[in-house]
Amino acid sequence: MSLPKSGHLFLVSKAIGSPLASRNSVQIHHRLRHFHSPARLQVVSPSPQATARNSQPRSPPIAPPTHISSAESISGKKAYWDGKALYAFRDRQFQPLPSLWLRDHCQCALCFHLETKQRLYNTFENTTPPEIKSCQEMNNGFQIVWHDGHESFYDHAWLREQDEERLTQIRQGRLPNVNLWGSNIQDSPPQVDYDEVMQTEEGVKKWCSEIRLHGFSFVDGCPPTPEATKALLERISFIRQTHYGGYWEVLSEMASIDTAYTNLALEAHTDTTYFSDPVGLQMFHLLSHEGGKGGESLLVDGAAAAAKLFQKDPEAYKLLSEIAVRHHASGDDGINFTSYRGFSVLEHDLEQGHLLRIRWNNADRASIECPMHMKSRWYEAARMFNQIISDERSQYWSKLLPGRPLIFDNWRVLHGRAAFTGRRRLGGGYINRDDFVSRLKMLEYGKDKVLAATVTG
Ligand SMILES: [Fe+2]
Ligand SMILES: [Zn+2]
Repeated sequence: MSLPKSGHLFLVSKAIGSPLASRNSVQIHHRLRHFHSPARLQVVSPSPQATARNSQPRSPPIAPPTHISSAESISGKKAYWDGKALYAFRDRQFQPLPSLWLRDHCQCALCFHLETKQRLYNTFENTTPPEIKSCQEMNNGFQIVWHDGHESFYDHAWLREQDEERLTQIRQGRLPNVNLWGSNIQDSPPQVDYDEVMQTEEGVKKWCSEIRLHGFSFVDGCPPTPEATKALLERISFIRQTHYGGYWEVLSEMASIDTAYTNLALEAHTDTTYFSDPVGLQMFHLLSHEGGKGGESLLVDGAAAAAKLFQKDPEAYKLLSEIAVRHHASGDDGINFTSYRGFSVLEHDLEQGHLLRIRWNNADRASIECPMHMKSRWYEAARMFNQIISDERSQYWSKLLPGRPLIFDNWRVLHGRAAFTGRRRLGGGYINRDDFVSRLKMLEYGKDKVLAATVTG
């Protein structure tokens, strides 16, 4: 809600420019490690997946902002048969596909339910891997005949879609060309039309895409009522219940529970940093504001801020990506929330290494999980990040208006508020990140692609 109420760690070793990166994008190579003890930094064995990846000549990059390769950049690599194995482009190189994996992924109607994409093949029936009797390249793919006579067909498109970066992109509902912004977004902030969103799936798709590309969007023309606000949120998904309720309203006289309910200024932060799964989207709809002024809303693009931090000081970026921090919520009677473990301020995707989530809430911060002798270094890195998000060039201030709800991605965009006077009635609600991503990717990529990306690997 409006208010702030907080492993795998990446060690950044080297910065490289990517030919695909936008002006604001950077990529860095990394090694994956795990920090365990809260009292002492300790390197433990990486997961088998990480080991396999690390044994390859190139590591996946980790990227501070949301640098994303376009589908087109991946799709050009065609699979081939070398007489013994079928090779496909995986993890940035050609690799032989194990015969059991191929058999396990046979796409025929006997082996794979065409509608539900559930496996019908009994993978563990045989003790030895199936043998390929013959493999023939056809116009649009490869025909494999197995020793038991079963025939499988793998078309080129399916083999290309197996590229891990592409799979991750679809699974996570990422889009190419994410826009990293600063204060200049005030010239043309993303917005969609309320009627279009309420009446068409195309409108929802446009809305979700705007949220994904910019991290936020306004909706124009919404009736300034609780009912309309709630119905609008539900066009994306059901509203997440928390200790604040589902759809909530904040009146300025509720100050006792949380600073969110006061009329004080709020620094840029993300919400529910204390949950293991922080809320995904948040909506604010100013229903009324009488007898006073102020209360402008602040948005800061956390991905752009992270990119700036990396450019300025990669070591600081690394520290904020490595050292876990805990947060807590203890203001409500009978409630204490803290995530099951600490999470770093900057969290990266484990498959492809790009920035996935930001947790930033100074008011709710609890422990910094590193040895005492490293705490000062964390503070220094955090101070640099704070300086970037406090810079007016990073900040987009706008006045919320009745009829113009704002929605933003709480995993990426930080929010805050200026002090105000008078009586304010603010409505809103949260949506789970997974529910948003599900809605977005089904609209953006379609059921077939999403399911194909989900049930493989
Ligand atoms: Fe908040
Ligand atoms: Zn089959």
